[in-house]
Amino acid sequence: MISILIVDDNEETRRGIRKTLVQEKNMIVVGEAVNGEDCIQRTADVRPDVVVMDIEMPILDGIQACDVLTKKYNDLAVILCTMQPTVEKMQQCLAAGAKEVLFKPYDANELLAAIRRAFDRTPHPEEKQAGKLPAEIVAVYSPKGGTGVSLLAANLALAYSLRRKGKTLLLDYDVHYGSGALILQLPPNRTIAEWVQEEVKDEDVFRQYVMTHKSGLDFLAAPFSPEQGDLVDGDEARTILKFANSLYEHVVIDVPSKITEVAMVALEQSTGILLVVSTDILAVNNARKAINILRELRFLGKVRLVLNRSNVGSIGVKDNEIEEALELKISHFIPSDGRLTVASINTGEPLVLKYPKSDIARAVFAIVDPPPGKTKQAGRKTPFRLQAGSIRSGG
Ligand SMILES: Nc1ncnc2c1ncn2[C@@H]1O[C@H](COP(=O)(O)OP(=O)(O)OP(=O)(O)O)[C@@H](O)[C@H]1O
Ligand SMILES: [Mg+2]
Repeated sequence: MISILIVDDNEETRRGIRKTLVQEKNMIVVGEAVNGEDCIQRTADVRPDVVVMDIEMPILDGIQACDVLTKKYNDLAVILCTMQPTVEKMQQCLAAGAKEVLFKPYDANELLAAIRRAFDRTPHPEEKQAGKLPAEIVAVYSPKGGTGVSLLAANLALAYSLRRKGKTLLLDYDVHYGSGALILQLPPNRTIAEWVQEEVKDEDVFRQYVMTHKSGLDFLAAPFSPEQGDLVDGDEARTILKFANSLYEHVVIDVPSKITEVAMVALEQSTGILLVVSTDILAVNNARKAINILRELRFLGKVRLVLNRSNVGSIGVKDNEIEEALELKISHFIPSDGRLTVASINTGEPLVLKYPKSDIARAVFAIVDPPPGKTKQAGRKTPFRLQAGSIRSGG
């Protein structure tokens, strides 16, 4: 995974670069800066692998900033971009330590190739060379509150932790009304709210924020209060995911129903999205709107539809009507069981641990377990993004 900081004073250019990079499974945008000075500060905060930076910027230009950065960090690659395709400019860039120079306008392929070359030609610390594969990042999301996202995310994370090799992290990105701590009965000492206020953000500090459930699952808690949730923005959410990605094999994100910056980052950076819907018409209606957004963002290819409380009988919208309305096949059916769910939540004993044979737990395990016939597959399991294949049209 190559982490990238985008630096340009022009917002549209930054957005354009970000749009190209989010499509790449091995690249992650960890932040943006608007001039050279801002870039030096952001680089210290998020320690990207690659900085993609414009030259012509106010306050401190790209060449000056590049000079400072490459003297300070020998594991950082800087790519400079300029409107002036002259030999002199090129020489100035290389003298400042730039690994690549891109002349504007450049296309997406040129940018991606330059990032890969620059990254490959830069020495990396041992842990980066150890070759850890990118994590499987599953965003559990519903555009309608109360659909069961938190219940499913917590149980799914536990199922990953129990059934899959490697470490799993549950990330409570419902930063205003997180409920993971209650569901797991893990009262946090520190939450994402304190993490964002840390001056130094590195892996060691990150580890101090993670709590371990008795099952072995790791958990990063949402802030205690909704006001503190406002402290968390998209860049912070991205930074957390960068650490999660390098420390874990599986990450499950509890995504808030409201499309906030944090929710957008979760959807964008995930390798798969479980879109949770229920059989009432309001949930289906919201899911339809969300699918239109996900299609526009080109995220639909990694979406799998989960029908929660699937067995409510004739009063609910029928499965085939849901599939027709959403133009997606339902991949997973989670039955309703009010008694068991309330008992589980109120006692802090998650379903998949306390009642692993229950219908809900079995349905959750089925999301994690590879499809029959694929169990002998060597190496790491294929991220489900690649198995989605459930889109009927669009995408
Ligand atoms: N399959 C189910 N059977 C019975 N009850 C369920 C089921 N799924 C969820 N619930 C219940 O529905 C309520 C809402 O669930 P949950 O908090 O997980 O939803 P959410 O989508 O995270 O909501 P919010 O938008 O408030 O974060 C909870 O009381 C939960 O126990
Ligand atoms: Mg919730």
